[in-house]
Amino acid sequence: MQTWRLDDARQTLVLCAQGGLPQVTYWGAALPQGEDLSVLHAANARDLSGGMLDVVPPLSLCPETTQSFPGQPGLRGCCADGTPLRPQFKLREVVQDGQELRVACTDEARGLTYTATLALDTQTHVLRLQARLDSAAPIQLDWFAAPVLPAPDHAAEMIDVSGRWCGEFQLNDLPWTPGSHLRESLVGRSDHAHFPGLILPCTGTSNTQGAAYALHYGWAGGHRMVAEELPDGRRQVQFGHASGSYAAPATQFETAPLYATFSDIGINGCATAFQRHLRDRIVTTPTPRPVHYNCWEAVYFNHDLPRLKDIATRAAELGAERFVLDDGWFGLRDDDTTSLGDWQVDSRKYPQGLGPLIDHVAGLGMSFGLWLEPEMINRDSALFRAHPDWVLGEADQATGRGQLVLDMARGDVQSYLYDSIAALLRAHPITYIKWDHNRVLPVADVAQTHGLYALLDRLRADFPQVEIESCASGGGRADWGMLERTGRIWLSDSNDALERLAIQHNAALFLPACVTGSHVGPRLCHTSGRMLDIGFRAWVAAQRHMGFEMDPRELTAHEAQVLRDVTTWWKANRDWMMMADILRLDSSDAAVIAEQQIAQDGSRFVVFAGRAATSAQIAPRPLRLTGLDPAARYTVTLRAPDSPQAQSRGQIALKTGPVTLSGAALMGQGITLPCSDPGTMAVLEAVRREEAP
Ligand code: GLA
Repeated sequence: MQTWRLDDARQTLVLCAQGGLPQVTYWGAALPQGEDLSVLHAANARDLSGGMLDVVPPLSLCPETTQSFPGQPGLRGCCADGTPLRPQFKLREVVQDGQELRVACTDEARGLTYTATLALDTQTHVLRLQARLDSAAPIQLDWFAAPVLPAPDHAAEMIDVSGRWCGEFQLNDLPWTPGSHLRESLVGRSDHAHFPGLILPCTGTSNTQGAAYALHYGWAGGHRMVAEELPDGRRQVQFGHASGSYAAPATQFETAPLYATFSDIGINGCATAFQRHLRDRIVTTPTPRPVHYNCWEAVYFNHDLPRLKDIATRAAELGAERFVLDDGWFGLRDDDTTSLGDWQVDSRKYPQGLGPLIDHVAGLGMSFGLWLEPEMINRDSALFRAHPDWVLGEADQATGRGQLVLDMARGDVQSYLYDSIAALLRAHPITYIKWDHNRVLPVADVAQTHGLYALLDRLRADFPQVEIESCASGGGRADWGMLERTGRIWLSDSNDALERLAIQHNAALFLPACVTGSHVGPRLCHTSGRMLDIGFRAWVAAQRHMGFEMDPRELTAHEAQVLRDVTTWWKANRDWMMMADILRLDSSDAAVIAEQQIAQDGSRFVVFAGRAATSAQIAPRPLRLTGLDPAARYTVTLRAPDSPQAQSRGQIALKTGPVTLSGAALMGQGITLPCSDPGTMAVLEAVRREEAP
């Protein structure tokens, strides 16, 4: 028995091998250095009973049917002649380099080499796992899992993620039951419906306490996830590309990185590990993040230069620092039926090109961003008339939003898109692209995703000053595969602050504030028909990377003033807030969605407690905080609402002035917020007191 271990301050992962593919036999709370890993392995082995094989087949990094593994194998495919591929790997070597393990196994008879990397980032607590398969002869793969991890025995539930347009990041608490739970995005993008993430809380775990595991598959092209309980009770989790993604026989296959983390401080420990890892290791966007203005919900396709200039002037006056010109500026794009692919400025709307608008925006001190949807094409476009064969999939396939997808694996498509976008970037001081993707693909296809990655990589290399935002009808491509190449997610097309409050609360399990776009929408929300108060809309946007998207001409003087005030507050706090940990609070009131953003050094925090509905009880329950030093004292000030609330008649402490309490009191008993109406936000600002012990 050979053993290896990866350690950081909070977790240990143990890998064991007996001649074949290694298996993770322990992953959880940090073990003492002297632990005998062979004994650990033996102590956790399953017993044998009647009806079982005479051995327990290993739950290896890539479980093999040739070992009689009783669940989903880690690899499925066939040889060129159609013979099923049933490898039997022998361990060649495991090389340990600090907290990184490189595993190499071979099946000489079948000409196969399996390699895997398991690397633990000891600062962020995130494991990065990736597998690769090389074959001497071309093979057809249907399924290839990233290194497979065991799931905890001591858990009754898992939490997976689903969603829809304007309703991203919905969490589903599902029971562990015998057999497999499958989630698969077959639509060629990570998609609203299938964000590739999984949380595995152990029994009794909440946001703020207990043990939990979290996994995320960093791939934009659609994933497959199997969480399976085997007949012997063991559990495994497999993540890989969606079935059928490998369209053609090949000799090399590589999974995307699987990110995983363990926390013994509640689900928040997983969330903050992911937030930090994404922010500090993957995304390279410079700080400070500018306040956005995006014109989509103000003008849609009606681009009129004087009007846009007026809007830009007003947006700058409200505090915007970047102006993003959305859909409608190119081709003959007067509605969403036409012109995708024709990335030339519409001379009817912009007779002198984009220059006059960009100059105006620059004169206001704002940078300029442009909307593009490069992977798409309308049948009604010059591009389609010239190149109908550039479309991915069947000629008579159903359209989505009236559009089709370009075949990104083609060199000519790549060149056309690169040249079109590069021409725009060379001609104008454009420092931002909102990169949209508004329909699903006809198939999941690895070549399509690699084509997209290659185009993004080339543009980023040649135009390093240009930041890119990933949008797909809102948050349809919010995965870390995209975020390796972009710096912001347009989290949802819902600018309804009530919906957004919940969406961004859940997205914080995987995304830090600095990559999560959040805009103040119109008073009458276009996607829900709700009317929400400006204070609530502004504070919800101020929880993440703030922006505006309404027509500023609709604002009353009072609304404009509130928006200016909250924006000024956001700018004053963004330096630490964009680097803060977002801790989801365990609210004892289902009507209150609350989070605490705490500075990395613990010196200050802000609490956002959004009231999403009326409560069952008549007066608010205390809200318990988290992540504080129990012995330290914190001075907490009610920042919002900053005017008397009609429903609040009492003299609770927070209403009368700052409150200073210990971390122990704030975390144990909590603090009472004033009565408030649904659709309002309480904002608490707090500083840790510097006191002699
Ligand atoms: C998608 C995006 C929106 C907007 C429109 C433009 O729906 O999510 O934000 O850019 O496209 O057509």
